[in-house]
Amino acid sequence: MIKIENLTFKYRNSKKNALENIDLIIEDGDFVGIIGKGGAGKSTLTYAINGIIPHHYQGDYYGSVKIDGDDTFDKNPSELSLKIGSVLQDIDSQMVSSVVEDEILYGLENFAIPKDEVEQRLSSSLKELGISSLRYRTIESLSGGQKQKVAIAAILALRPKVLLLDEPTSELDPKSSVQIFQLLRELNKKHGITIIVVEQKIMLLSEFAEKLAVMSEGKIVLNGKVRDVMKHSSELESIGINCPRVVTLSNRLIDRGVDIGKVCINLDEAEVMARGLIHG
Ligand SMILES: Nc1ncnc2c1ncn2[C@@H]1O[C@H](COP(=O)(O)OP(=O)(O)OP(=O)(O)O)[C@@H](O)[C@H]1O
Ligand SMILES: [Mg+2]
Repeated sequence: MIKIENLTFKYRNSKKNALENIDLIIEDGDFVGIIGKGGAGKSTLTYAINGIIPHHYQGDYYGSVKIDGDDTFDKNPSELSLKIGSVLQDIDSQMVSSVVEDEILYGLENFAIPKDEVEQRLSSSLKELGISSLRYRTIESLSGGQKQKVAIAAILALRPKVLLLDEPTSELDPKSSVQIFQLLRELNKKHGITIIVVEQKIMLLSEFAEKLAVMSEGKIVLNGKVRDVMKHSSELESIGINCPRVVTLSNRLIDRGVDIGKVCINLDEAEVMARGLIHG
């Protein structure tokens, strides 16, 4: 379990808090989406979860982040990174090798994964991401989206308990973005890996995430099950988050007293709602 209590952080040389009074609990096996406008503090929150803050970025730090009861403040960052695999927003800063295969081997060797497991982990993580054909390619020859997949494969090979991804689909086309989220769902459901994903595409989160944490100006302003958060579509709009059309439409119907039961969060649910309204 990840337990964040009353966390406030201000980067050194910065005038305002990047995080302010954050309280958040992420249970084992959760699939949590983090959303918010540019500069809301999403990446900073991911740094606080994986220990980059306070171990790499210094600043004023109040409150606590505990991973399975251990305060990240007292934890060795590399120990943390084995438990919480992170895919950073700036993929290039994450890449350490010049060839795809080496990028994945680097992590496996760094964490002293037994030699007889290495090839299996390497080939299966490439396969999971559908990039086995890129194994011997140079990183610099890859597209942004391919690099994102390599970064995810490298983390996956380490089999972390928690996967923390900061905008992992920003360079991907819609089809590949959905594929990544399908993979995340599978990792979550089949292997019980906790997924924490910062994502701007709310459609993806409403389809795949179970919980949402909405950030604005360093604070978490809404937090809970996706459907409960989506009930607040006007509040979301007011902080610059455009809800999927089906959400806005079903909220409007509910506001006008039409009995549709619950707010629809995806197209399938909207279809059921529409059929119900037509057929009575
Ligand atoms: N290294 C840093 N030093 C000083 N201030 C920073 C640093 N990184 C981020 N900030 C500031 O902290 C605040 C939160 O930034 P952060 O990158 O966490 O937001 P974000 O929600 O991830 O934005 P984006 O959607 O653009 O990725 C912003 O005001 C930003 O300018
Ligand atoms: Mg960010």
